[in-house]
Amino acid sequence: MPLTVSMTVNGKAVSKDIEPRTLLVQFLRENLGLTGTHVGCDTSQCGACVVHIDGKSVKSCTMFATQAEGGEVTTIEGLAAKDGTLHPMQAAFREHHGLQCGFCTPGMVMSSVDLLKNNPSPTEKEVREWLEGNICRCTGYHNIVKAVLSAADEMRGVARAAE
Ligand code: FES
Ligand code: FES
Repeated sequence: MPLTVSMTVNGKAVSKDIEPRTLLVQFLRENLGLTGTHVGCDTSQCGACVVHIDGKSVKSCTMFATQAEGGEVTTIEGLAAKDGTLHPMQAAFREHHGLQCGFCTPGMVMSSVDLLKNNPSPTEKEVREWLEGNICRCTGYHNIVKAVLSAADEMRGVARAAE
């Protein structure tokens, strides 16, 4: 029997009737059409599905949509400013070539934004450890790490010397 689930997604209140077994990632992609959140595995390992719930990053394939009832969800579509200005993390991924095919990128960006909330000056090792739950099959991770460190500098208002 369908259940009604209500939450705020990217600042907008949404309410839908869904099957109780609907995963949050399915809800976002299939019920709301927010396909920037990707599904890259069925084992909760790849991190392509990471979104924020109440400001914390979560793998949206690991929970039912009903578990986000009443929550504030942010997806990659909600990260840029309303006028389209990219979030500093998105801009840094672009500038430092932190993506190739882009499949892992939404999850990488959302995880990295959460990292900097808790640790605004991470070391390279801390960035690598934090992103252990996000798999990239293309980049070899170096440029992703560079992008996160650069975004951290940018967000702290520090200019990183050209490397
Ligand atoms: Fe969620 Fe891979 S799709 S971890
Ligand atoms: Fe292709 Fe990461 S850029 S999987």
